[in-house]
Amino acid sequence: MKKIIYILIGLLVIALNKPLLAKTDLPGLVRSGQYSKGTLLSISQPDAIKQSLDAVYSVGTYPLYTPELVPGEGRDIIQGYCNLCHSVTYITMQPPLPAATWEDEVYKMINTYGALIPEDETRQVIAYLQAHYTPETRRQ
Ligand code: HEC
Repeated sequence: MKKIIYILIGLLVIALNKPLLAKTDLPGLVRSGQYSKGTLLSISQPDAIKQSLDAVYSVGTYPLYTPELVPGEGRDIIQGYCNLCHSVTYITMQPPLPAATWEDEVYKMINTYGALIPEDETRQVIAYLQAHYTPETRRQ
């Protein structure tokens, strides 16, 4: 008996709230549909665009985003070695990193990932990164 009363109270609460819920605004991404009377109960589509046989279609350049590295001594070396495995976007997409972190980063590429960079060029790579991509030196 008690259960039935609870169920009835529950149903009553739902019934009373329904008009209230219906009035509340729909949450952010949900939009109510717009139906014009003219198309009710019919499947009407706008006319297909007429295509001519001599039309020329083309696509623009594919939007690859690899920003230029800052010009400076060592840039060519960087582009030569680092591009072997990934684009230099990996450099520009980092936040400005402290000088020591760039050094660790380059040695990580060598010791962990197997980048083959001779020692003197490794020094130049690190010097370049430290000259342009640290919190103190980064301009772009
Ligand atoms: C032998 C291949 C190889 C070479 C050469 C290489 N990298 Fe990487 N690099 C990787 C791999 C693998 C990752 C990790 C990729 C991932 O997590 O998606 C990576 C990631 C990075 C990252 C992202 C941060 C991180 O530690 O994962 C930076 C910055 C980076 N490399 C800088 C460089 C620079 C600068 C050079 C040139 C001196 C270089 N890489 C050369 C393989 C290489």
